[in-house]
Amino acid sequence: MKGVILQCLGELVKENFGRDKWEEALERAGMDRKSVFLATQDVDDSVALGLLSAVCDVLNITLKQAADAFGEYWVCKFAPKIYRVYYEGCNSAKDFLLKMDNIHTISTKNIPNARPPRFEYEWQDDKTLVMKYKSHRGLIDIMIGLIKGVGKYYNENLSVIKLGDDAVKVIFP
Ligand code: HEM
Repeated sequence: MKGVILQCLGELVKENFGRDKWEEALERAGMDRKSVFLATQDVDDSVALGLLSAVCDVLNITLKQAADAFGEYWVCKFAPKIYRVYYEGCNSAKDFLLKMDNIHTISTKNIPNARPPRFEYEWQDDKTLVMKYKSHRGLIDIMIGLIKGVGKYYNENLSVIKLGDDAVKVIFP
């Protein structure tokens, strides 16, 4: 997984819970307390997921709660700073979500070993979108947290419903 994901996780934990908690999580995951991640660095998936689970332990929250916090922080704070260009021309949660498959392909195309998630879209009616999740990582809860974050960013009250391990239903208001 790209280091940028862990950069964002670190920023979120430090900003909301303090540097100590982040260092404690790093240590708990078997890493140096002063570890830093470069955005384009290739971090082994098991290391990245180990750190996420250490963050949950240290903050005493579930993976779903961490996924929601991460999703909101990524979409509303972190990505607007470094991926501003991908928000341009998007005026709604629907516009943004429909760009996600393409954005994951282009934002990782120059990174060796990146294996971004892919999404397929199926409209059930004009307000109901099913997003199929294609990834070997099984992080559907993170996907749900990120979609909820998109709803917050565009100030839209989305219903986000998990349909299993590989699909999410999004109902637009
Ligand atoms: C500007 C917005 C976004 C950018 C630039 C972005 C970019 C990225 C990048 C670079 C990765 C790491 C991929 C890798 O290491 O192979 C990633 C992971 C991920 N992204 Fe996004 N992302 C954005 C928003 C979203 C949204 C809104 C969703 C929800 C549909 C989403 C779903 C995911 C998931 C689930 C992962 C975890 C990796 C996996 O499941 O395989 N992302 N994203």
